Amino acid sequence: MTFKTIEDVDVKGKCVLMRVDFNVPMSSEGRIEDDFRIRHALPSIRSVLSRGGRLVLLSHRGRPSGNGFEPSLSLAPLARHLGELLGSEAPRGVGFPSTDCLDDEAVRAVSELTDGDVLMLENLRFDSGETSDSTDFAQALARMGDLYCNDAFGCCHRTHASVHALPMAMSDRPRVAGLLVADEMRYLGQALETPERPFVAILGGAKVSDKIGALKNLIGNVDTLLVGGAMAYTFMKVMGQDVGSSLVEDDKLALAKEIIQLVDASATDLVLPVDHICGRELSHESPVCMSDQNIPDGWMGLDIGPATTARFTSVVRQARTVVWNGPLGAFETVPFDVGTRQVAVSMASCAENGGMSIVGGGDTAAAVLLAGVSQRMSHVSTGGGASLRLLEGEKLVGLSCLEET
Ligand code: 3PG
Repeated sequence: MTFKTIEDVDVKGKCVLMRVDFNVPMSSEGRIEDDFRIRHALPSIRSVLSRGGRLVLLSHRGRPSGNGFEPSLSLAPLARHLGELLGSEAPRGVGFPSTDCLDDEAVRAVSELTDGDVLMLENLRFDSGETSDSTDFAQALARMGDLYCNDAFGCCHRTHASVHALPMAMSDRPRVAGLLVADEMRYLGQALETPERPFVAILGGAKVSDKIGALKNLIGNVDTLLVGGAMAYTFMKVMGQDVGSSLVEDDKLALAKEIIQLVDASATDLVLPVDHICGRELSHESPVCMSDQNIPDGWMGLDIGPATTARFTSVVRQARTVVWNGPLGAFETVPFDVGTRQVAVSMASCAENGGMSIVGGGDTAAAVLLAGVSQRMSHVSTGGGASLRLLEGEKLVGLSCLEET
């Protein structure tokens, strides 16, 4: 599936409503902790401004109640930061008219934009119409724009007004993908639809329940499925191995069994950990031991062990396509970060050897950043939930509203 992008449309003198995903982590003092998503929106923003478009940025942050302005979730610091990143490319700065995305001041500020100007409206989710996919809310936004651009890959799985009802309300005007969305789909789409083989998926994270859809979709499609993180312990328990006090989803044992049966009936090779780094508790001060497949009583598995790491990294290095979603241990807590770090490095080697290594967003992107190898991946997705939906074989609602080429 390929889409018309912002580069394909004439924007001079036009008011472009661009949905971006500026839902970035911020400290309690209001400091931006990671502006990855903002930087990745810059190519589309620049494309509009440099060609004399009038740009209105729409985003959400956090999960406000939907009953109006909440200072701690304002987008004002993000508008300021974007202004700093753009510098002279936005000579009149990034406007930020109001505490409500649709009040008179906001509407007036949009109408007063001149060619090459940019402004950001306040957090869309301050209005409950955003998350309820309200047609009225969408139509009020639509009245402000000449064309719609979705560059918010991280939100493309949400049936929210700015992703769904708004482009529907603008069906008489161009509705295009931003360059970030196009790039995400180029990598993730290609990897999942026409992967070069060997095709390997790495799934980790805390819960099997979060990854059921992805497991079911990938089994039979990938050559090798590497499973680590706490979700592996539920599989180990089903297989009769000792898991000590590791995190196990006891209500998902039947499902884990079903997954193992699916693997047995498929051509996919499932690789589970064969050894573990264990702690008494999840703390960097915990005593640590290394166990084989069976974890002793009183210990919890918190990272894959060296034999597992060696197996995983060897499979990854030889792969031509690898997609990774979910860390393989408690990567934020030393000394339980080693397996995840080493697999991250092997993903970088895979890319450097001509393979395609794709990192899902969220925790996995954070882990790869911490390992210092983000720049060496073929692609690091800006969307955790959205990229997981693609691994599940689902279509993204936001993309279904855009014009295909
Ligand atoms: C994300 O961070 O995954 C996106 O911004 C979507 O946010 P949400 O999960 O609150 O809808």
